[in-house]
Amino acid sequence: MSIEWNDSLITGIRELDRYNKDFYLRLNSLIDAANRGKGQTELPNMMDFLEMYVNKYLPLQEEYMKNYGYIKHMQHCSVHNLFRQSFKVLNIEFKRGSTSSLLVLKINKLLINWLISHINTEDVEFTTFIRSVMSVKNNLDKKEQVL
Ligand SMILES: [Fe+2]
Repeated sequence: MSIEWNDSLITGIRELDRYNKDFYLRLNSLIDAANRGKGQTELPNMMDFLEMYVNKYLPLQEEYMKNYGYIKHMQHCSVHNLFRQSFKVLNIEFKRGSTSSLLVLKINKLLINWLISHINTEDVEFTTFIRSVMSVKNNLDKKEQVL
């Protein structure tokens, strides 16, 4: 099973898009490794990536929401916080030395749920918003250049 990257997630903001694409690549690697019985080997890479995702990508996305006046900013942040909390619990387990197949399953489940319930829905909604704002901004910039 492979999870396909979806162009509806492209915001046009390079740094956000890079993390999002990376999320797909890493999740596919973990699923592939788990299917080959090698999930525990891939787990440290995934946990490193998720630490960066939680500490850099989510705050970056939240910053864009705030700066661009996204109406669902607070609601979206509270969902991010729930993800942070779930990741934190699993990361504590990992840092205590667990690389069990049960932990791999829990991480897979968390990420697939996150993909379906957040990235493919709420993040797509935000992406649609930011694309429209940037399109309006670009049009205004072009008009200013003409004037
Ligand atoms: Fe989000």
